[in-house]
Amino acid sequence: MTAAQRRTDDQAGDGEFPFTTADFRAIADLLYAASGIHLADAKATLVYSRIAKRVRKLRLDSFRAYCDLLRSDPDHPEHAAMLSALTTNVTRFFREPHHFEHMTTDLLPSLIAKARAGGRVRMWSAGCSAGHEPYSMAMTLLDAFPEAARHDIRILATDIDPLVVDHARRGIYNDGDVEPIAAGLRSKFMTRVEGGNWKVTPALTEILSFGTINLMEDWPMRGKFDAIFCRNVAIYFDEPTQTRLFTRFADRLTPEGRLYIGHSERSLIPQLVSAGLTIYRLKASS
Ligand SMILES: C[S@@+](CC[C@H](N)C(=O)[O-])C[C@H]1O[C@@H](n2cnc3c(N)ncnc32)[C@H](O)[C@@H]1O
Repeated sequence: MTAAQRRTDDQAGDGEFPFTTADFRAIADLLYAASGIHLADAKATLVYSRIAKRVRKLRLDSFRAYCDLLRSDPDHPEHAAMLSALTTNVTRFFREPHHFEHMTTDLLPSLIAKARAGGRVRMWSAGCSAGHEPYSMAMTLLDAFPEAARHDIRILATDIDPLVVDHARRGIYNDGDVEPIAAGLRSKFMTRVEGGNWKVTPALTEILSFGTINLMEDWPMRGKFDAIFCRNVAIYFDEPTQTRLFTRFADRLTPEGRLYIGHSERSLIPQLVSAGLTIYRLKASS
């Protein structure tokens, strides 16, 4: 018996909507085609709880009706809502702090020199969720290079989910969110706003731009990146999808660039070699 079937049985007495293995597969297939995210059978309970809210909101009476709606109209706005409901957006400021220490000690000295010499420096937070990651990158950069905005040095932050990109653009966070930010950086880069929340300062937004980009599709940016942070994103993809993504990242790195990935992710492509814990650089061409 699969997890989805078990879930159906669990739901038999008290479940609000019938949910079959076929419904689970239909939703998993739609999500995979749209985002590359692979849902194992064990995620059936999660799919039920997140999508039941959508079924209720649309006043449908079953998951079957929900799947039929999505399959019958590829342009239906519910496709975006389903994606938002099923993506995992967990994030925090200065998550995996060794990456930001590496940025300060190993990466930024040469990038700052390049920018001061008139060069172009680009960094990308790919799968930025609600902005904690790109703002952590921007704080690290500005702490080392306060005059960054006067040079051609910028950070791009993108995610497939427009709802989290909107949050990132607003840049408003609560006390719990800002806790991991060192006091010195918090007082420099976050200000108190109404309702007891915190807002990022214009110094950060000046060097950042946000957008909605699906990593599975064509990327509109043309140039290369000196740093790509794509952390805790590829973990949701199957191996062939991860390999394709890392190959595309390798094509987009400058010769001195670095790729930072999540603690449980690995790149197995020959073009990338280790440059630290879950940090990669291009293999030197012989
Ligand atoms: C767990 S969060 C990681 C956020 C941040 N990078 C971090 O490590 O804290 C994963 C993010 O990847 C995004 N994502 C998933 N599939 C994607 C895709 N195909 N293209 C772009 N972003 C994607 C999700 O929307 C989500 O915000």
